[in-house]
Amino acid sequence: MAVLKINNMKLKEFIQRRMVIFCLLSSLGGLAFAQTIIPVETAHQVLLLQADRAGDLTTLYFGKKLADAHEYEKIAAVYKNGADVSGLLNSAYTPAGSRNLAEPAIAVTHSDGNKSLDLRYVSHQVKRLDNDVTLLSILLKDPVYSFEVTLYYKSYSQEDVVEQWSSIKHQEKGDVVLDKFASANLYLKAGSYWLRQYHGDWAKEMQPEETELTHGIKTLDSKLGTRANLFEPSVFMVSLDKPAAEDEGSVLYGALEWSGNFKIDLELDPQNNLRIIAGINNYASPYVLKRGEEFVTPAFLYTFSDQGKGEASRKLQSWARNYKILDGKGSRLTLLNNWESTYFDFNEDKLSGLLKNTKKLGVDLFLLDDGWFGNRYPRNDDHAGLGDWQENRKKLPNGIVSLVKEAKNNEVKFGIWIEPEMVNPKSDLYLKHNDWVIKQPKRDEYYFRNQLVLDLANPAVQNFVYKIVDSLLIKNPGLAYVKWDCNAVIYNAYSPYLKNNQSQFYVAYVRGLYQVLERIRAKYPAVPMMLCSGGGGRVDYGALKYFTEYWPSDNTDPLERIFIQWEYSYFYPAIASANHVTDWGKQPLKFRVDVAMMGRLGFDIVVDKLSSSDLLFCQDAVKCYDLIKPVIWQGDQYRLSDPKKDNVAAMLYVDASKSSAIIFNYLVNYRYGTESNLPLRLKGLDPLKKYQLKEINLYPGTTAVAGNNTVYSGDFLMKIGFNPVVNSSRTSVVVLLNEVK
Ligand code: GLA
Repeated sequence: MAVLKINNMKLKEFIQRRMVIFCLLSSLGGLAFAQTIIPVETAHQVLLLQADRAGDLTTLYFGKKLADAHEYEKIAAVYKNGADVSGLLNSAYTPAGSRNLAEPAIAVTHSDGNKSLDLRYVSHQVKRLDNDVTLLSILLKDPVYSFEVTLYYKSYSQEDVVEQWSSIKHQEKGDVVLDKFASANLYLKAGSYWLRQYHGDWAKEMQPEETELTHGIKTLDSKLGTRANLFEPSVFMVSLDKPAAEDEGSVLYGALEWSGNFKIDLELDPQNNLRIIAGINNYASPYVLKRGEEFVTPAFLYTFSDQGKGEASRKLQSWARNYKILDGKGSRLTLLNNWESTYFDFNEDKLSGLLKNTKKLGVDLFLLDDGWFGNRYPRNDDHAGLGDWQENRKKLPNGIVSLVKEAKNNEVKFGIWIEPEMVNPKSDLYLKHNDWVIKQPKRDEYYFRNQLVLDLANPAVQNFVYKIVDSLLIKNPGLAYVKWDCNAVIYNAYSPYLKNNQSQFYVAYVRGLYQVLERIRAKYPAVPMMLCSGGGGRVDYGALKYFTEYWPSDNTDPLERIFIQWEYSYFYPAIASANHVTDWGKQPLKFRVDVAMMGRLGFDIVVDKLSSSDLLFCQDAVKCYDLIKPVIWQGDQYRLSDPKKDNVAAMLYVDASKSSAIIFNYLVNYRYGTESNLPLRLKGLDPLKKYQLKEINLYPGTTAVAGNNTVYSGDFLMKIGFNPVVNSSRTSVVVLLNEVK
């Protein structure tokens, strides 16, 4: 190549210029395209695409970025995997029905019934959106049919995250059916591939499994419609060559930004390369695309690290705080929730007591949970009332308005639970608007938690759902928090609104939901909202764009929560994790509070039943949390000791300036004599700084043991470490590190 010393930006410009020249040449003389390399770069990773002479867009390489961008050109020659007859195994967006015989990213039925698709490179564009974010778009067209796909790659340089999605259009005479329409199609090269995936159920969210991928296709998917993550979320990791450890190994994290059915195929191809195709699940969903209509897929996001799972998680967490989660850099409200202390059994008197207790505890807000609505069909258990969002006159004769007022008198804020997408057959809504309910017209109804899902494909239903939130906030401008629940999956999927277009249903539902959330956020950009789904049945970045936090699980047993929160933390930042202290589990109160502090702290206990020292401890804990929460919410998270492997679980949070840090330590193995017998090596500190250690959040009457007030260098703490002295009489220990000058 003629140009020798140019930096990456210049190289990109050079490539673009070169493309222009070759496009010109080809239009003038009918010449074939030149080979064009298109790098999708972030600070440390690169996805290297190539449009070859025939116009096929393929992936040359994905992984660690090279220091010298000129050497990208040499990559193809050193990867020799044998002949790929189709030349498409490494397609950047594999079309079905032509030369390709592997799992496609896109499959269509053209307006003439033909099922073949070929996609050739036409042009690409790079837009620098700001210093950190770049948007690349690549236009591909079928040479025979008037059909095109634009691939989008939004790269966040500092965070090493890429969001990738596709837009699909055509100008054919009639409708085209999209049989498959993935967001992204990645291609990895390594000796072996290790998939870390998650499964679960109610109260058992985020159970990890790690296996080596074998040839053929491994699919992660959901067909549940709503509460889509109940059995499996769309987040996963793929380690290259060996399972990545916390601080070592190459690993890709992936997640689909979609709150409905998803499908992620991981195909180990005949040449031992891994093809990852991720998108909306095409199950029961061939999409009829009209001439000129644009189908935009949700984004698939990924990040890569060659420094292990820990670094990948910190990148993703910081991306989420900076760009995705609503108010990710902001603050959160501590709260007292009444779900487990009252369930459906409350009235104004009881709530008045709870509002006083909210104040007594020292938290910011009282959250009124399920059970406040329904009159003809009162919501006194989970069999009735969903859909009838009027205050129950018996329980709340003076309405929510008076509760919000009373909260104000107690100098606390007020929040409320809703489950607006749902309906109980025992409700006025069901009787009045049977045509708004998802169910098969000719089959028996089938319930999940005694309820059915409303047809959000229908704009009238979207409006109804929007108005539930809107009228609550209009009537109660002081309302400071909403918990949005979603407790059912979709059985007997059928949209009365879509009539003969049932194959649009699953996609239309999620789009309808997002439309409602868009509207809510346009009018109420700042009201904090919790994303809940019978626990963690709907935790994904498609939804978290509209929510400030998520509810990881109804399982609040603190021992279980250590494991559940641990796995979520790989993908989501602590500021978004709503953690409540409840009566689940056998651990002492301090243990329960410490675990809940590792995110957004809340309580769901009967404050009146606390002993005086328990109450004092909780009050002090809230004050302590107020001091340390900025580090927990915005700090970098380091996993020091894994509860799955060690007797002690330890998680460290370090602030950006490396001047303060907090370590949470827990005994997770209760066999005789188990304790923290080795020092824990800390991470992420400044080796040159000196830190004073202080045990905090002590239960009244106990004294600090763990290295109290001793000063160590960051170097010492990271090389030798520190023993938090966790044992059967000190099962939970929190230590604060502050820089001393
Ligand atoms: C779901 C939620 C709980 C609670 C109940 C109320 O199960 O996960 O936190 O709000 O609904 O019915």
